[in-house]
Amino acid sequence: MSERLRAWARSYSVRGRYSPVGIAFHWIMAFLVLFQIGWGYYTSWTPAGGDKLLAYQVHSAVGLPILLLALARFGWRLMIPGPHNDADTQGWQTVAANAIHYVFYAAFFGLPLSGWVMWSSIAEPGPLYLAGVIPWPQLPFEYLPLELRWRIMGTAESVHQLLVLTLLGVIPLHIGAALKHHFWDRHDVLRGMLPEIPDAEDPRAGPQHSGREPRTARVTAGG
Ligand code: HEM
Ligand code: HEM
Repeated sequence: MSERLRAWARSYSVRGRYSPVGIAFHWIMAFLVLFQIGWGYYTSWTPAGGDKLLAYQVHSAVGLPILLLALARFGWRLMIPGPHNDADTQGWQTVAANAIHYVFYAAFFGLPLSGWVMWSSIAEPGPLYLAGVIPWPQLPFEYLPLELRWRIMGTAESVHQLLVLTLLGVIPLHIGAALKHHFWDRHDVLRGMLPEIPDAEDPRAGPQHSGREPRTARVTAGG
């Protein structure tokens, strides 16, 4: 079964493409994380009152699924290596791109975990729900001394804010690099992360071809 899955995913990666599973993970999580950044700031700027609590509940309900998606995506990524594409021979740019991907994965885990810790360490934590429907447990902090809980809260809050600021720094670099590779270098990197549209003349045709040659030599795709 896993061999068949790998072979299926390889049929995309040899063409410099992410598989539909990798593409779905990418765009769903990118959307959720961007939403969370906007909603997180909206929440923290909302004056104290009923709406603020509701806003935090929405923030945690949307944030917790990111933790489960991160686990599933990480497992998938360990099993299915990413494709080799035109941008894989760009020296420091390749190193920087890979480093940013690691930062993203750290944030996918670190943000929901620090949020969960924050939520569990407040004096009377309200209930948590995954996606707003499935009950999610609190971390077992209720027997800890109040002072220690405040310290845990402070540390988790700093981690949460630091990760958000890091994302605010690297997301524009990531998007900018994707657009530069696509429009300036004419590399296949962005196309590999977009859903595949079958060729108009042959619906069974696999690889998309832009009709343009990349500015740099095409790398032979690997597994
Ligand atoms: C990828 C997921 C997440 C992102 C991108 C995110 C983002 C943010 C942002 C932008 C803020 C405002 C930061 C500020 O005011 O400086 C924030 C605050 C907060 N988040 Fe999240 N968050 C995520 C997940 C979660 C989860 C799952 C929970 C709870 C279970 C949570 C709980 C909180 C809390 C309690 C605050 C208020 C902290 C404060 O007042 O400084 N977050 N988050
Ligand atoms: C308009 C927005 C975005 C565009 C155009 C974009 C484009 C891309 C492209 C082209 C790749 C493939 C890079 C390569 O293989 O060298 C990629 C990978 C990746 N992107 Fe984005 N991205 C966007 C937003 C985001 C956001 C907001 C996040 C995270 C919060 C994100 C996280 C990732 C990760 C983790 C990978 C590595 C994929 C893997 O191997 O698991 N992206 N992105």
